[in-house]
Amino acid sequence: MAMRKKTASPGFKMSRLLTGLSKVFIGKILFKKFHFIPHRPPMLVVELTNNCNLRCIMCEYPLMQRDGMNMDTQLAKKVLKECSEWGISRVGLSRLGEPLLHPDISEIIKFAKESGIRHVSMVCNAMLLTEEKAQKIIDSGLDLILFSIDAARKETFEKIRKGADYDKVVTNIERFIKMRNELSQEKPWIEVNICLMKENVDELPLIIEKWGQLVERVKICPVVPLEHTNDNLIVDAPTYNGKKKACDFLWTRMVVLSNGDVTVCCADKDGDMSVGNAQKSSLKELWNSDKIRRIREIHFSKKFEKLPLCKQCCMVDEDWFNAEKAIINKYEKEWKPFGILPSSFFS
Ligand SMILES: C[S@@+](CC[C@H](N)C(=O)[O-])C[C@H]1O[C@@H](n2cnc3c(N)ncnc32)[C@H](O)[C@@H]1O
Ligand code: SF4
Ligand code: SF4
Repeated sequence: MAMRKKTASPGFKMSRLLTGLSKVFIGKILFKKFHFIPHRPPMLVVELTNNCNLRCIMCEYPLMQRDGMNMDTQLAKKVLKECSEWGISRVGLSRLGEPLLHPDISEIIKFAKESGIRHVSMVCNAMLLTEEKAQKIIDSGLDLILFSIDAARKETFEKIRKGADYDKVVTNIERFIKMRNELSQEKPWIEVNICLMKENVDELPLIIEKWGQLVERVKICPVVPLEHTNDNLIVDAPTYNGKKKACDFLWTRMVVLSNGDVTVCCADKDGDMSVGNAQKSSLKELWNSDKIRRIREIHFSKKFEKLPLCKQCCMVDEDWFNAEKAIINKYEKEWKPFGILPSSFFS
């Protein structure tokens, strides 16, 4: 497909860099060394829906116990308004589910942008990205869209992304890129996300060859062994020696689930660590609530046995962190010269 790869203006690139990297990097040092918690999270994740049309092999969605529901549109707007007034500059609209299933997705994105949120992003599987939906998303003002592409061969793709149709996904994404490129606007920035695992590691060069010139960035994220259910999928899996550390989520994210429950954790598939509900309390109250403070204290004192979810989670495992870093470094060496970005999915 002969399509022009867009290049963002230096201003756009710089603002992305500043909103993301520097804040997170400085925050990381302050969190790790001084147990400092910022007065607001750098990013809010709003789970517009916890329904999904696929059952991917690496994802926790098939294990989720919550009832599936779309977030009430008024609740989504309430949360986004609060988020903007509080000064949170980054919002992601995907969690456990497919955001394109929400009937009001483009209206919600438009609302977020009109409320002044600087960076609004969405990760999707593109199965439902019809031409009409694509146009609405492009018109909504969305800043970044990530397409999940985990293979270059139809057979592998459909083995990983159970329920997906590879040809349809490719057609939908290519049409989206073409539509965006034909407009004289640089948004939404388009990225492809590869969840790296044993099943697709051999296809990495092919995936990059296919998408590298079409989108602004290709991201390679090692599969995360959530609740260690995916240990068998990890490329270069670690040996776990039990050394633990506090989890970065406690200062980097706040997550509003589709029913309004608020948790600090992107791995909390059932909302077990919910600290309240956004219908009843403000995000600000919840970020500083006793419940959340208790969770942070447990992490800093490393008494993880008190938190059933955290005690079995790879995010507090130093060995997993080091293994993930090693995988990222390995692929960074190989692919960075070609503009490909290996990173942790949660960075
Ligand atoms: C949970 S999905 C939600 C959005 C949408 N349904 C999709 O698949 O793009 C967001 C991203 O998480 C990735 N993902 C799922 N399970 C993962 C895991 N265990 N480790 C790392 N990334 C994972 C998916 O490949 C996808 O790119
Ligand atoms: S990765 Fe996305 S598409 Fe796949 S099951 Fe999970 S939420 Fe659904
Ligand atoms: S350790 Fe795991 S379960 Fe606990 S807050 Fe972090 S990501 Fe969530």
